[in-house]
Order: sequence, then C-alpha cells, then structure tokens
Amino acid sequence: MAAERGIPQSIVDEIKNRNDIVAVVEQYVRLSKRSAANLFGLCPFHSENTPSFSVAPEKQIYYCFGCHKGGDVIHFIMDIEKVGYLDALRLLADRAGVHIPEPEDAGYRKRAERETLLYKINAAAAAHFYLNLTESPKGKAASAYLARRGITGGTIRKFGLGFAADDWEDLWKRLRNKGFDAEVLSGSGLFRQGRDGPYDLFRNRIMFPIFDALGRVVAFGGRVMDDSQPKYINSPESAVYTKGRHLYALNFAKKSKEGSLIIVEGYMDAIAMHQAGVENAVAALGTALTTSQAQLARRYTENVIVGFDADASGQEAALRSLDILVSKGCHVTVLQIPDGKDPDEYIRRNGADRFHDLVKRALPLMDYKLLSVERKSTRDGDLDILDYQDVACKVLAAEPNPIIRELYAAKVADKLGVPSEAVVREIERRRKGVEQAAGQGTLRDRLAQRQTGEPQEPAKPFPEDPLFLLCLIASSPELADRMRISPEPEDFPEGVIRDMAVAVLARDERAGAGLSGLIGLAGDADWHGRRIADEAARMSFEIDAMGDLSAIEEAANSYLSRVRKDRLVARKAAIVAWIAAGGEGADKMEMKEELLDIDVQLRQFRG
Ligand code: CTP
Ligand code: MN
Repeated sequence: MAAERGIPQSIVDEIKNRNDIVAVVEQYVRLSKRSAANLFGLCPFHSENTPSFSVAPEKQIYYCFGCHKGGDVIHFIMDIEKVGYLDALRLLADRAGVHIPEPEDAGYRKRAERETLLYKINAAAAAHFYLNLTESPKGKAASAYLARRGITGGTIRKFGLGFAADDWEDLWKRLRNKGFDAEVLSGSGLFRQGRDGPYDLFRNRIMFPIFDALGRVVAFGGRVMDDSQPKYINSPESAVYTKGRHLYALNFAKKSKEGSLIIVEGYMDAIAMHQAGVENAVAALGTALTTSQAQLARRYTENVIVGFDADASGQEAALRSLDILVSKGCHVTVLQIPDGKDPDEYIRRNGADRFHDLVKRALPLMDYKLLSVERKSTRDGDLDILDYQDVACKVLAAEPNPIIRELYAAKVADKLGVPSEAVVREIERRRKGVEQAAGQGTLRDRLAQRQTGEPQEPAKPFPEDPLFLLCLIASSPELADRMRISPEPEDFPEGVIRDMAVAVLARDERAGAGLSGLIGLAGDADWHGRRIADEAARMSFEIDAMGDLSAIEEAANSYLSRVRKDRLVARKAAIVAWIAAGGEGADKMEMKEELLDIDVQLRQFRG
C-alpha cells in the first residue's frame, strides 16, 4: 500500500483529488456513450468494436467488461503508460502540479539504496563474466562452445554473455577489489556461505545475465558446457529479483515493431531467435508461465505466440500457460515446431526463413487445443472416436464465444463423420452445465449488456465472495451498521483483503473516499493487489447495476452469518485441540473463557 512506499496518504489523496478520472481517461480514450451514471468508450487495453470500457465519475473508477481491467485513476495510468505505482503517482502529480516530498521514511530510503547497490554489483559481475569470456584465456573453451552453437560475437555482446571461471573465488575477489562491501555482496545471490567464508555460486559455467524490462541486470543463469547436472543454475531471489516475474530478453523485445511477443522456454531459444532476426522473442525461463509473467507480457502487447518445446512435458506446460495468458486478456496462438525441436535447434537446422514461416503458421488457440485432444486420443495411429468426441465437446463447451463454438463444432463433426448439428447440440447441452457452474462469467456477460443498455435481465444472486461484501460495505457504509451481525476484520481472509477491511470498517481516512478509496488500498505494483483492484472495480459496477441494494441485504446478512459461524467453529476446534493437547497455565483460563463466549455466540446462530 501507498503508505508503506513512503508517500504520505494525504499526498496520494491530493493527487487523486486533483486528477479527475474522466479528464485523465479522455486524454487517451474517446468516451462516446453514456448511461445514467457511467461513460463508455472503446477499451485502450484490448481491441474491440463496441465500447465495453466504462468510467464511473462519481466513484472515480474504471472497468472494462471485455478484458476485466479496472481500478482508480492511478491504476489507469499504470496500465496505459505501463509504469509502476510510484511512477504513475509521479506522472499524475506532475499533471496536476502536486509536489511529492522526498520519502521521509528511513526504511524506504535504505531499501532503495540497497537496491541501487545490488544493480551495481550485478552489472559489475556481468562485466567481469563478459571479460572472462571475450578477453581472458580462461574463457577459451566457453567461446568455443558458443561458437559451436552458432552464437556470433555480436550476439555475445548484445546479450552480455559471459563465463564464470572454474575457481572458488574469482568473482568474489574481483568484486571485493572493486570496493564492494562484503556484507552487501553476501546478500547479492552471487555467493554462497562456506565454512571458510563466501565462495562463488557460479563456477565453470556460461553466464546469461537476466535483464529486467529497463535493461538492468537482476540475476544470472549459468549453463554447464557438457552433459553434467544441473544443466542450469540460477540466482536465488534477492531484493531486485523475484522468480517468475521476469521475461528474459523483454528489454530487447519491447522495442520490436511486430506488435506481438513470442514466448519460448529457454535462454538459448530466445537468443537464437534474436540472432535470426526474430526480435520479439522472450523466454519464460523454465516450463510453466506464471500469472505475473502473463501480466507483464500483456503490458506490452495483446498478441502472444507461445513456442514451448514440442515434447510431451512441453505440451502440458503450454496448455497451462495458454489458459493463464487468456485469463490476462491475451490473444494467443501456438507455434508448432516439427520433430520435437526447440526453437534454437530448429533455427540451427533449418535457417531463419523457415522459422519465420512457422511463426506465420502459428495455430489459433482452439485449433491447438483440438489438435492436442486428437493427439491424446490417438493410439497406435488410430483415433479413438468415443474418447475424442467426449474431450473435444468438453473443450468446445468451455469456449464463451458462440461463433467459435459453431465453427469448430463443424470441424469436429467432420472428423467424427457425423452431422454438424449433432455436435452443436451436444456442446450446447454441456454448456448449460458450464453456465450454471460458472455463474460469475455469465453474470458478467449479462452485466456488460446491461451497462451498455442492451436487454435487461432479472436480478442475480449475491456473489459469495468476501471482497464483494467488502465492496458493498464501502459503497454503502450504513449497510454495515444495519447488518444483523456487525462485520469484523477477522471475517475477511488474511492479506490484502484483510488490510482493506481494517481500513474500511474503521472508516479510516485511507478508505475515506468510498469505493475509490477501497480500490486505492488494493493497489500498487504488487500483482496480487493489482488483481484485487481489477476485481473490486468489477464488483463495484455490479453493485451499481443492482440499483436497489435492499434486495440483496438479506443475502449479505446470511452470507456473513455463515462466514462468522464457520470462523467460530474453527476457532472452537482449535481451542479444544489445544486443551486436549495439555495446554496449561494462565492461557488456559483465557481459553476457557473464550470457549464459553464462542458457545454463547454460536447459540445465537441456532436461535
Ligand atoms: N532451466 C533451469 N534449470 C534447469 C533446466 C532448465 O532453470 N536445470 C530453465 C532455463 O531457463 C532454460 C529453460 O529452463 O533455458 C529451458 O530448459 P532446456 O530446454 O532444458 O534448456 P535450453 O534453454 O534449451 O538450453 P540448451 O539448448 O542449452 O540445452
Ligand atoms: Mn535448447
């Protein structure tokens, strides 16, 4: 949250107050439609033909019913300018002429200084590895290895590739000689603590510096030059590096004019692709793409081509990654590399031109999914028709777009040798199940229609979600006073949502501005908080669309009753277990009192 970042809440509030969300959004988006309370325009975060991007001037928030991005004016600047929380604040402060004081908070400044130092250490280490490789006799075998793999001198320079000498303290001595503090070096992730002091983590390995999107070295990967294990070792996490949050080579790929990113698995794949002129390649560094990597990619483009290794494990990882990318609003296609090769190997054997052809022929997501189903249902060259129709219909039933369902139903029918209508009927039959199970998704669709003035439908059920309840309370604080049980912070799950609940229930100044205040609490650059901001923005539009809240008040009451009851029952069980395990002392009296109190409360639920 903002306060922890060292900028006083009063300044954040002033920046928000002086930057009306409509005026800020209109610098990027034409808001051409309006309903009673909201404005609509074409979403700047995904491509669309009918406006589903909405702004609520009263609440000072936005939400896109197409790609599900949402938040307050600060989140909007983060999304559209692709900057972090602090930079977004600075941009808005400049726009409104608000002066941000230097952070007073000593802890904050110390952290910032430490990060700067770690970047310097990493840069110095990268320079040392690079010189080992290119200038020193120590790097002969490594140079020969890279040459054998077709890596040019230009590529070595561009990616800052290097060599870690076969020595326990080559890097340690070098960096100590450069005057870096031993304690700070020890926390850099480049060294391990041995009995006789620190020693180099990377030894006798080809070194790949990992750059962040701004081109700073945040970590390293090191590869052996033979078949020994482990093939790669990677830097541990540090103050400047969190696993699964970076995309290798994004610092280069973001400059490409392709309007897309190709995500592959390995360092060598990304490097070989750049060398072959495929300049939009990035690597996920491992097999499973994380949510924050998907989000990072989506900051730069909507179009993502996934090019994971074509072996069995690669296919599984690709399937998981595809769903993650789609959930972040990416339009996904899948590279088909023949003969189980990875991109690096394919380029080496077949040349850059053939690889470019593969990229052009990347499969649309549904084609890829159905092809995977077909492969899995094929045994000894024969398609198991029953298995295939079952899984293919299941995959199609999960597809929200009816046109895509229909189009692919025809293809599946063709394979099965049955009339297309039969497959369509089966998919729609299963779809009823999907719609009932995922009430949320279809609710969202209906709501999007309602927001844009399309046909209206009857009132929907109360979403059983603590965040929804919190949004409800923030949008209408009197509700909390009227509720049968008064909500407490402990009724909300620990973490960001609990912190928000504390502020909202205490009517803390930070949560002062109603829903916008609540959403502000959720959101800085931390992806988890950011996701909660998206969700909360969606929910507040839902609450708006409900109009008269009295209809769901009863549902809110019974939801909270259930949450509270579950909480008390769990607490009771914990205390009973504690006493049964022989818990003694002054605590025991207190526990027993609490137990009585819980029983009194639980009796109320029965009554
Ligand atoms: N990886 C890792 N640790 C390992 C193996 C793999 O971190 N022990 C990560 C690396 O980022 C690697 C990626 O997973 O680049 C893909 O692994 P793999 O396909 O085995 O390696 P390649 O990148 O293809 O390397 P090479 O072509 O040099 O064998
Ligand atoms: Mn490889």
